[in-house]
Amino acid sequence: MVGNREAVFFDGPGGSQIPTSVADAMSEYLLNHNANTGMSFATSLETDEIICDALQACADFIGCNDYTEIAFGQNMTSLNFQLASALSKTWGPGDEVVVTRLDHDGNVGPWTLAAEWSGASLRKIEINPEDCTLDMESVVDVISEKTVLVALGAASNLSGTINDVRTIAEIAHEVGAEVVIDAVHYAPHSLIDVTEMGCDFLLCSPYKFFGPHQGLLWGEKNRMRDLPVAKLRVATEEIPFRWMTGTQSHEGMAGTKAAIEHIAWVGREVSGITGLTRRESLIEAYKAIEDYERALCLRMLEGLGGIGGLKIWGITDPNRISERAPTVSFTHPKMTATEIGDKLAGRGIFVWAGNFYALELTEALGLEPEGVLRAGILHYNSIQEVDFFVESVAEIVG
Ligand SMILES: Cc1ncc(COP(=O)(O)O)c(C=O)c1O
Repeated sequence: MVGNREAVFFDGPGGSQIPTSVADAMSEYLLNHNANTGMSFATSLETDEIICDALQACADFIGCNDYTEIAFGQNMTSLNFQLASALSKTWGPGDEVVVTRLDHDGNVGPWTLAAEWSGASLRKIEINPEDCTLDMESVVDVISEKTVLVALGAASNLSGTINDVRTIAEIAHEVGAEVVIDAVHYAPHSLIDVTEMGCDFLLCSPYKFFGPHQGLLWGEKNRMRDLPVAKLRVATEEIPFRWMTGTQSHEGMAGTKAAIEHIAWVGREVSGITGLTRRESLIEAYKAIEDYERALCLRMLEGLGGIGGLKIWGITDPNRISERAPTVSFTHPKMTATEIGDKLAGRGIFVWAGNFYALELTEALGLEPEGVLRAGILHYNSIQEVDFFVESVAEIVG
């Protein structure tokens, strides 16, 4: 509660709220199964089992068949640095690494450094500033026979833009480049399917999809087995554990599994179909989540669009609602994003102001240093909250 009102959580792109089942699973692990891995006493065996169960849940979540292709880590950024460091050892001068101006820095910074370490060059895919989409001419222009890697996001955490990753992955594969997808912002809104996306690596973060603070990396099995990942000589070579440095957050894994189970539960509830597998339940869940969130997003875009002077950065055409996640960012000529955000905070509406590390994009749009005001819708938000938010913004800037 803030004052006498229930808080409105539009801060989901920075981290979602979690269901009780996630907190319960973490506390159950810590209170009753807490141990390190790999010994024959009860809690250690239970820990091994919890890790495998969590990996299997993640495999269902991203649509792969083999859980040894998935590694847990501290967060997306740390895992991406680890991946970038391993891949950089396979590149050299003359190679080119491609990033985009739409991406979060977590999928730009590691590749910038990896290019530097290996002597490769860095190239950037440009955006169309009018709707914050990737410029497909630039995609074709930048990806060449020299490209060894293309790193791009599935959805922008600032403009909400959903990228056509499959087409870009096909263009990259034609020249023999590998493709890394940052699905952090995509994961709470739409179903991940690594086969459908056609990528070689994918990263996401459970704390954005109703789970604990953790990161996930998926990679094609041979690459996960063979890449020269930085590891201790005493650590196992077995996949996926060769990627999981040191002692991991086992309670986090228990919580991540519970978050995936929660989304699957949504799928079973909304579809009313019995006997679904976990993956099938997730498919049903995301169909319902997309429909629901798009309705709320349309309402928000329409409401904000009616406020004089306010500029929404990203797709606003209702006919293109499926090309964006329900994450809406805007600026106003008379007030800074921070001023608007502070006033909204006073009314119990939780939103973010700034660049949210999507620095390439705010620079490309000329929005530094102040950035934008961002409201992120998730499936636990309501149309009443959207209306209250729009009314509040209108009053504050009016
Ligand atoms: C699109 C996107 N990519 C990457 C990240 C970084 O994720 P993590 O905090 O797990 O490192 C974020 C975090 O906000 C994000 O929104």
